[in-house]
Order: sequence, then C-alpha cells, then structure tokens
Amino acid sequence: MSSIKVIGGDRLKGETKIQGSKNAALPIIAATVLNKGVTILKNCPRILDVFHMINVLKELGCSATWEGNTLIVDTTAVTSAKVSESSVQKMRSSILFLGALLGRCHEVTIAYPGGCSIGNRPIDYHLDSIRKMNVCLEEDKGIINCFTDKITGTDIFLKFPSVGATQNIILTAVLAEGITRIYNAAREPEVYELCTYLEEAGARINGKGTSFIEIEGVNKLHDAEHTLSPDRIAAGTYMAAVAAAGGEAVLLDAPVPQIESVIRVLIKIGCSIKATDKYIKISRSRRLLPYDVLRTQPYPGFPTDMQSQLMTVLSLSDGRSTIVEEIFDSRFQNADELKKMGAKITVETKNIAVISGVMHLNGAVVKAHDLRAGAALVIAGIAAHGETIVREATSIERGYEDICRDMSNLGANVQYCSDNIQ
Ligand code: EPZ
Repeated sequence: MSSIKVIGGDRLKGETKIQGSKNAALPIIAATVLNKGVTILKNCPRILDVFHMINVLKELGCSATWEGNTLIVDTTAVTSAKVSESSVQKMRSSILFLGALLGRCHEVTIAYPGGCSIGNRPIDYHLDSIRKMNVCLEEDKGIINCFTDKITGTDIFLKFPSVGATQNIILTAVLAEGITRIYNAAREPEVYELCTYLEEAGARINGKGTSFIEIEGVNKLHDAEHTLSPDRIAAGTYMAAVAAAGGEAVLLDAPVPQIESVIRVLIKIGCSIKATDKYIKISRSRRLLPYDVLRTQPYPGFPTDMQSQLMTVLSLSDGRSTIVEEIFDSRFQNADELKKMGAKITVETKNIAVISGVMHLNGAVVKAHDLRAGAALVIAGIAAHGETIVREATSIERGYEDICRDMSNLGANVQYCSDNIQ
C-alpha cells in the first residue's frame, strides 16, 4: 500500500492536462463485449479501475493491449460468461458486464458487488429492470445467474436516475428485439458517452443525455474507434486544489460544459475562472467565502464525486457552510481526517455536515477512505502548513492516472512514498 507525502503552504502556479474520463472508460470497456471484433479506445486513462476491467475481459477470453493511452480491445472471442466473485468484490463497476454479457451471450453469472466506504450501493434498480426484458434472473448466496432465449425491449421506469442502472439497461437493450424506453434515465456525461460509443459501433439510440432514452435493438455491432472525453471530476479536483491553496492554474483539455455546476460554486466562493473550449484558467487570491448550503445532485447538479474536495475547500473559508449529501448514505468519512488537520466540521446527520472555516490547516498523517476522499486529503495537504502523509493512497490511483504528477505540474510539493514512513 503506498502513501503520498505533501509539503504544503505554498500557492499554486502551473498548468496540467486533464486525463481521460475514468467513469466513461469503465462502461465502454464493458460495452466492447457486445461487438465480435476490435474496439480502439483513445485517451484512455492508465488507472487501476481500467486495469481491473481489462482483467475481467481476459477472464472472459478477450484480450487488450496498450499503445500509450490507446487501449486496443479484441472481443472477437468470448469463451466465458462468468465474472468471478473476486473481480466484482474488487470493483463495483464490474457489474456493468451484466448487461454486456446478456446482450452477447444471453447468459451471465456474476456476484453481487460489495458495498464500499461511501455506502451499501445496492443493485436492485439494475436487476428489477433487466427482469422486465424477458431475462430469467436467479440469486443464490450472493451469485446472480441470468439467462434468456431472447431479450425483448420494454418500457422501464427508474425510481432514481441511477447511472449504473441506466448503463446496464442500455447494454442489455442494444442487441434486444424491439424498443426499450428508459424513463427517468441518468443524464450524466458518462451515460451520454456510452451511448455515443455504442452509436459509433452501430447501435440505434435516441435521447442520450436526457431523462428519456430510447434504444432500438439491432442484430449486431461493428468495430469502432472512440476517443474518451477528459475526466470532469479530475478537472474539478485540480480546480479545488487552486481554490484551497490559492494561486493560479491552467487546466488543458478541461471538459468545461460538464463541470458548470462546479465552476458556479467556485466563483461564488471567490475564485476567478476563465473558461474556453480548450482550457480553464482559475485563480484565487482573496480569502474564500463560505457557501450557505451545498447539495449534491444527479447531473447536471453539483456532483457527489466533488463533495469531499469541496469539504476541504470550505474548511478554509471565512464562515459557516453546510453540505447536504443527497446521493450516497455515508460519504462524510473524510470529515474525521480533515479534523486531524484542524478543520472544524460537525457531521449532524449521515447526510448533513456543517463546516466552520479556519484560517489554515496543519499537516498530519491521514487516511484515504475512497479515491475522491483521498484526492481531497491531498488538496488539504497542499493548502496546509507543514507535512501531510496520506496513507492508503492506492485508492487514489483507482481514478487518478498520476495525481502527484498533475499536482506537481501545478507547483505543489507532492510525491508518492512507502507506507511505512513514520
Ligand atoms: C456512478 O456510480 C459513478 N461510478 C460514481 O463515481 C458516482 O458517484 C455515481 O455514479 C453518482 O454519480 C462510475 O461511473 C463507475 P448510481 P453508480 O447508481 O452507478 C443508489 C467515483 O468516485 N442505487 O447513480 O454506482 C446508490 O446506492 C464513483 O468515480 C440503488 O439504491 O451510482 C446511490 O445511493 C463513486 N439501487 C445512488 O443510487 C441501485 O440499483 C446513486 O447510485 C443503484 C443505485
């Protein structure tokens, strides 16, 4: 297990390029199974979660090779429809192979994904929806067995615009007979991008990016080449670092339209931001203002994946802010870590945290509970006076290709170190 050492206290100055999107890459890698051929995925981030999805592909009899940040996936042969329990337990997104294998093989055996530090993360919306598509689904001791002689399109009403459930329904529907209509679909850019890739491979989809998506089943898909969008959460993370530490930065290739909700919040608390279709320029010189009530929402609202980073930022503001976490049921674990650094945060209920800003944070030894919380602690270390060690930083590598490289590009003193550092 690796750690990250941060020497904080200096303002940032520099520029960095935003990596490809983790949350677009993962569903598209699963989706390649629907094509009996080769898919070329450009601008693919070399992160642990992608490596893990590649391992699952290999379990299924497929292959994948890298050329720089281009991933070449060959799914001509699929020799197994079984995703091992260890694979799914290691990473929740393996559940996206459920829809893809159903579409390809008309059968799949896959384990329940475990909960994680941010919540128990059930998959009832996924399973209830797929059952309606003429799929027989049995659950036995944590293993799900699905089979069908023919997937039939139908109307599906989601109780909540779940990103993963929307994606799994789309993956199941692409090669189905007939039309599938999803009502209250997730509108996240990663759903939009999955649909874009599938259309490039021959799928027929209407309404991508809206809450009503219609998929007309086709007989087969074909080879395609897709360039992944930049990662909106990575871009937001680096903007938060400038907001917390002060200074200025240029983020190249930032997906501006996808992070408007984050930009609005950062401007409101005192950052100056200039955004074009090529880059974002952000600076902060005056003391940060508090943010009255920040609620996480489904897209296009403020993203839950930026909540931990903004908790760090607001810890340094001149006043009291409240964060309401509306998406996950236990995503405030970072509060205890930030309090070790001098932050004043009260977690009033499992989804309401009240932050009283302090003049500065102090370096400490802290622990990353999940990848976004870990990134938020690196940001705290950059802003803090003194040295911070972020332990269990491997979780950060699940989603950030090289957070030390990127933050160093912005002028921060950040480096990986061994976990046994005292
Ligand atoms: C995706 O997770 C993202 N992961 C998450 O990013 C992100 O936080 C989340 O969407 C919300 O935007 C990927 O894209 C790989 P959901 P997902 O289904 O699909 C409940 C990161 O840091 N729910 O929209 O799992 C669920 O418990 C990760 O990159 C059910 O109750 O999110 C949660 O409270 C973290 N039943 C809420 O819905 C279900 O069947 C949102 O979950 C499915 C979900």
